[in-house]
Amino acid sequence: MRRATPDALSEIVEAVATWPQTGGPVQLHPGDLGWNASLGAQELAGALRVWERDGQILAVGMVDDDSGLIRMALAPSVDDDAPFAAQLLADLSDPVGGVRAVEARSGAAFRELLSRSGWVADESWTPLSRELLEPVEDCGLSIETIDADTVRDRIVEDRVAVQQAAFPNSTFSLERWHAMAAAPPYSQARCLVGYDSDGNAVASVTVWSAGKGRPGLLEPLGVHRDHRGRGHGRAISVAAAAALREMGSSSATVCTPSGNAGGVAAYVSAGFRRLPDVTDFRRTA
Ligand SMILES: CC(C)(COP(=O)(O)OP(=O)(O)OC[C@H]1O[C@@H](n2cnc3c(N)ncnc32)[C@H](O)[C@@H]1OP(=O)(O)O)[C@@H](O)C(=O)NCCC(=O)NCCS
Repeated sequence: MRRATPDALSEIVEAVATWPQTGGPVQLHPGDLGWNASLGAQELAGALRVWERDGQILAVGMVDDDSGLIRMALAPSVDDDAPFAAQLLADLSDPVGGVRAVEARSGAAFRELLSRSGWVADESWTPLSRELLEPVEDCGLSIETIDADTVRDRIVEDRVAVQQAAFPNSTFSLERWHAMAAAPPYSQARCLVGYDSDGNAVASVTVWSAGKGRPGLLEPLGVHRDHRGRGHGRAISVAAAAALREMGSSSATVCTPSGNAGGVAAYVSAGFRRLPDVTDFRRTA
């Protein structure tokens, strides 16, 4: 295992982007790295752990120091690789690393080994997915889009304001938006802001492509607290699916805590299929 440096971010993001599979588990995605890049490239790199074999990146983990959770992405080629799984577990079991919980939604051998080694079920997450073969219906809101090439200050301000009004403890800011937009993953991302018929910015989402033919990710999505219960959550989820289809994604995916009834309901209402809940693993000893 090695720690990442800011100049290795592009290479890591490129590797992680090749792993999501249509219909497969919704594991750590380039979009998750992209969203965390809003904290700064140095901070993101400091949180990343990289596993390689023969010079090829095969697994990446993103550590949250506060919770002790590491969120893992594994290459499909090591899904059944027991020796590789054993190496991962050995590295994560080092008490100096401080890992107390693991998000491992793919990697059959790794998941099996965690269960066998006394790691127990932790927080439950609900993945959802909408296939993008067919054109996506109109969402009903007026949508403004910001990608890496078209930054309009007013829309960015609205993007940030909706985020703050949707997530009570949000620390998102203009500075953080610009840090996110300057990082490698955002070259394949867009922010969408939804406006109601009175011109209020009511909903926002950031969508992340992993390249053509692969699943894209919604992270994060929110509706302004003063404008909820009017179909805007459904609408911005539909708009996100449409944007990802335009970007060539095979499906639109998202994962939300299973206890977030409103989030799950909004995605289902927008045509996303609810997939079986999946739990993180928590260390018991
Ligand atoms: C979740 C959220 C996006 C819903 O936005 P919203 O504009 O109120 O949702 P909508 O009005 O479009 O409702 C869509 C569906 O969800 C249902 N719903 C909305 N909030 C709900 C709640 N708290 N509990 C149960 N169902 C709920 C609605 O009844 C509706 O169902 P229907 O289409 O079958 O009638 C909004 O509450 C929010 O921003 N929450 C904080 C951030 C968040 O959780 N984001 C999503 C997960 S990352």
